[in-house]
Amino acid sequence: MQRIDKIKAARLLLASWRQAGDRIAFVPTMGDLHAGHLSLVQEARKRAERVVVSIFVNPLQFGENEDFDHYPRVLDSDSEKLNSAGVDLLFSPTVSELYPNGEQNVTRVVVPIMGDTLCGVSRPGHFSGVATVVSKLLNIVQPDSSLFGEKDFQQLLIIKKMAADLCFSSDIIGVPTCREVDGLAMSSRNNYLSDTQRELAPALMRELRNVKKMIESNPSADFSQLTQQAANTLNNTGFITDYFEIRRSADLAKPNRDDQELVVIAAAWLGKARLIDNVRVNAVLGACPRTD
Ligand code: PAF
Repeated sequence: MQRIDKIKAARLLLASWRQAGDRIAFVPTMGDLHAGHLSLVQEARKRAERVVVSIFVNPLQFGENEDFDHYPRVLDSDSEKLNSAGVDLLFSPTVSELYPNGEQNVTRVVVPIMGDTLCGVSRPGHFSGVATVVSKLLNIVQPDSSLFGEKDFQQLLIIKKMAADLCFSSDIIGVPTCREVDGLAMSSRNNYLSDTQRELAPALMRELRNVKKMIESNPSADFSQLTQQAANTLNNTGFITDYFEIRRSADLAKPNRDDQELVVIAAAWLGKARLIDNVRVNAVLGACPRTD
């Protein structure tokens, strides 16, 4: 595996691979890699002769009071994991390499509507930061396909829309969430949990699955009642629920009566960790209308 931190050197290497006819699959990350990231790498290896992973803790996607300074940076151990996983290139630019004129003045990519809901409400500017850095990385790597985890379902849809709207040629592929044995979605931020919080954390996924089951058994159920009950249960368990919603899985809009492809999606604080997760639901409609 090659390790490169300069854009120019990465471009030269990537161009030589492309010239040799190799397809390139790309996995952008912020590092502190776990089995979820490595499953993206495995999927990437099935799709291309060359696999590129980027590690870049992107300041543009962190709010003022968020964990940018404390976000784990463990480049050497990440590099070993990627090497063992068969990655061809680790691209790990510095902040000044990616934002040479400072990140405040950089041209930004904004994905409207989808970027302003759910996590976009409590993290203003976050998805614009993500869309901007992913655009830059896609322009540098110019991959045939790029892989993103479905745990960040809103991010995945936003990147798909951005890639379609801005005519990026890379396919944007979602990869199913990797879970711990107790069901908690893998995330670098799980390390912020104390032992007691770690035991409580799977309740988020349990509530999502509960709501999914209730929709499947009664697609005409009152959605706002279901989500309010789930949020109350989480809050009584020690979470502070940011949102718990049932949305249309195609665009995260509030579902109409006849929408069947749905996602139950939530974000909740547990101590210092802001956990996000989601489950998809196919709601086959019954005879009774839903309450709005
Ligand atoms: O999901 C992440 O790790 C980040 O948001 C991403 C896509 C690497 C952009 O910084």
